[in-house]
Amino acid sequence: MLGVAIIGCGDMGSKHAAAWGAREDARLVAVCDHTPERAQTLAQSYGATRVDSWQEALAHSGVDVVSICVPACDHPAIAIAAAEAGKHVLCEKAMALTLAEADAMIAAAEANGTALSVCHQYRGLLRYRAIKEAVDAGRLGGPLSLRFAEMREVRPKLAMHRLSENGGPVHDMTGHLFDLARWLTGAEAESVTAIGHILGRGKPRLSPVHDFGIDTAEILVRFSGGHSLSIALNWGLPEGTPGHSQELIHGPMGYAYSSDPGNPDRFLGDLSDTAGVTTKDAQGSNWIACPGGDPGPEICVTALIEEIRTGTRSPFHAREGRAALRLIRAALQAIETGGTVMLQDPDSSG
Ligand SMILES: NC(=O)c1ccc[n+]([C@@H]2O[C@H](COP(=O)([O-])OP(=O)(O)OC[C@H]3O[C@@H](n4cnc5c(N)ncnc54)[C@H](O)[C@@H]3O)[C@@H](O)[C@H]2O)c1
Repeated sequence: MLGVAIIGCGDMGSKHAAAWGAREDARLVAVCDHTPERAQTLAQSYGATRVDSWQEALAHSGVDVVSICVPACDHPAIAIAAAEAGKHVLCEKAMALTLAEADAMIAAAEANGTALSVCHQYRGLLRYRAIKEAVDAGRLGGPLSLRFAEMREVRPKLAMHRLSENGGPVHDMTGHLFDLARWLTGAEAESVTAIGHILGRGKPRLSPVHDFGIDTAEILVRFSGGHSLSIALNWGLPEGTPGHSQELIHGPMGYAYSSDPGNPDRFLGDLSDTAGVTTKDAQGSNWIACPGGDPGPEICVTALIEEIRTGTRSPFHAREGRAALRLIRAALQAIETGGTVMLQDPDSSG
């Protein structure tokens, strides 16, 4: 029975609590949040103890695993302290704000023999698994051209827009898409070009924000093997603008895309009962239903437990999270410099 502490009891903390709480081999023992009422609600629901700080949560007896569900700026300090206290960690994305922080998190886990996973759960979602099957079966051919579009009104949480908290929407969101692209192609990025903007400035909802991160970008990534990825992200549209998401995976022999007729405004990570994937190739058109509710972090929880029990590396291992972060940083660097960022060694600090 693994004892779990949840740090941050907002939206993702509640989902982590539900994922851990649904298991027979884990139980919540401690929860904390800067807003004590949030922690109290989770504590009551799961029979856990509310503590006042993440430091107290790490010191609480019976804690084996820590789920980190606070803004990205606080991930490194908590993850490193948790590893040094011998705790396994499930960390929300983005793993950190900088590669140096991510490297320190990985080094701490390795030095202490603890597991460290990052919740890039999209690669576990039914519809991306259906696309991956078509890719791996060679039905689209190669190289692949991946296009992701994600358009939203300014986000409801100020942390998402603050450079100092989640690093801004491009930092916050694109990691999922970089992770998907690496996983679908099985390739590493060679170069990143990007143009970015801040459209959220001046929007009433964001008036308390003073350190805006980039919220809008066109990003083009070249992968080894000739695969390419283009991302159009805009999280700075006026309040009330309907959302729009799209992904399209082309190859020389066919293409695949997902749709959700009942939820045309769906977020890229959301699933509903009407969601599915269409693949088209020389054999014709094929619809694969991919129904299901909000995926939540269950898949990451299950994989982390497997890693703890058997040593089998989780698909959500921190090195995957770090690889996604490396592309986030490269895109932001390309935006800042107005040039193309060339990437060499995936493990290098650049
Ligand atoms: N995997 C995904 O698809 C996904 C989706 C949304 C958010 N996230 C990530 O999850 C994390 C949390 O986002 P959220 O949407 O749950 O935010 P949220 O605002 O709903 O919840 C964050 C909570 O953390 C608390 N908090 C902040 N700093 C704290 C600290 N140092 N100690 C204790 N409590 C603290 C806040 O009071 C808040 O209740 C972020 O890293 C975000 O990027 C991941």
